[in-house]
Amino acid sequence: MSRQRGELDEKYLLLSKAYVAGKWVDGSGDPIAVDDPYTLETVGQVPRVSEAQVSEAIDAANRAFPQWARWPAKERGAILRRWYELVIQHKEDFARLITLENGKALKESRAEVDYGAGFLEFYADEATRSLGEIIPAPVTGRRLMVEREPIGVCVAITPWNFPLAMLTRKVGPALAAGCTMVAKPAELTPLTALAFAKLGEEAGVPAGVFSVVTGNSKTIGPVMTGSPIVRKLSFTGSTPVGAMLAEACAPTIKRLGLELGGNAPLLIFDDADLDTAVETAMVAKFRNGGQSCVAANRIYVQNGIRDRFLDAFGSKVATMKAGDGFEDGIDVGPMIDDRAIAKIDEHREDALRRGGRLIAGGASPGGRIAVPTLIGDVASDALLTREETFGPLAGVIGFASVEDGVRLANDTPFGLAAYLCSSDPATIARVGRDLESGIVGINTGLISTPFAPFGGVKQSGLGREGSHHGLAEYQNLKYLCHAGL
Ligand code: SIN
Repeated sequence: MSRQRGELDEKYLLLSKAYVAGKWVDGSGDPIAVDDPYTLETVGQVPRVSEAQVSEAIDAANRAFPQWARWPAKERGAILRRWYELVIQHKEDFARLITLENGKALKESRAEVDYGAGFLEFYADEATRSLGEIIPAPVTGRRLMVEREPIGVCVAITPWNFPLAMLTRKVGPALAAGCTMVAKPAELTPLTALAFAKLGEEAGVPAGVFSVVTGNSKTIGPVMTGSPIVRKLSFTGSTPVGAMLAEACAPTIKRLGLELGGNAPLLIFDDADLDTAVETAMVAKFRNGGQSCVAANRIYVQNGIRDRFLDAFGSKVATMKAGDGFEDGIDVGPMIDDRAIAKIDEHREDALRRGGRLIAGGASPGGRIAVPTLIGDVASDALLTREETFGPLAGVIGFASVEDGVRLANDTPFGLAAYLCSSDPATIARVGRDLESGIVGINTGLISTPFAPFGGVKQSGLGREGSHHGLAEYQNLKYLCHAGL
């Protein structure tokens, strides 16, 4: 029997209730429909939780906190490890859920499950490696000690572009550190988060330690940001929304983790290996259909290699297929909504109007499909260089000297990721140093991993996720001054 579109092996993972204080609950008012971005049909519905239910989740997180924080780190880690194993055991179902609600090509969804589960695996071990310090005392008879403490109840607001990985990147370190968490997934993609919570329950996460509240940002956000119980907000999304959330958190002085807008540059220097440069551009631009904060939005190519690069990159882009994420051979699924398509169309037309040369792809054929497209000779002030396109549209801009390239790359208020391709160690060292960016990919477009700190400078955000630095974001340092020894 053939499988229905997006049908799961384990039907119970398609949930229509929110997870509050260890219970699966309905909300108040009409539920929210979840639509498949390709067929535009409704594939699920989730509750619109009330303000009181958000408060209930926060109160439960607060009640659960003291015990969870005092559990041995090894035991918290063991639960995270079981959770990781369950996610991997249900990898295909998670991949289908992600494609169903987000649209991305199934191979991208599978990669996301591995990437996302990796945060649980990493922090399962990292929980036990969180060390304190003894500082040499400046006077006799004293011992100066530093302990790491979990900061308390945390909230997470996660985006639609990586429905699993952006959640595990927050839940993994929070729970490993001994914090408790209430998460609000994006309204467009809540199903993955609910399935994830279900497996957390199966893994043995105690009631109240982790809740998922679904619904409207305008209802949920203010309860989270206004609560004096909540000690940290972690948000992945746009810079304007991050700024609003930071303002709302200011009166209660919450810790903030903000992973915000990107507008990443990719610099390709004359001495770059051509194949490496093309591969870097393919991944940096088209991973996740270009719907990523670290997507190379501006591709600057030095004049000596520019024509060869455009030929080779253009041939690759021309082979890419956009369509139904569930179909074999599809590289880019549908975009998330009509606004996404409108933005891509606007950026493409603007670049062409300003003298850009169409090398591969072209206009969107209708529906939510954006054809992978490459435009050469893009004006350096075109819209696509100034705003994140968040889609499979690549624009190439020429530059003359290394200094020009770095100046163009840094000419943005953002600084999340940047990429460079060169075979010269001196250029790599110098440009790597001078790029104003939290992350630099050198001869690679694949930079994201649970093992390294992910985060930006300038208006791209605050704090780091991933690695031991990501754990520290959920901890306070306590200094104990012991006298009379
Ligand atoms: C993002 O787009 O926000 C995250 C991308 C990544 O983790 O690679």
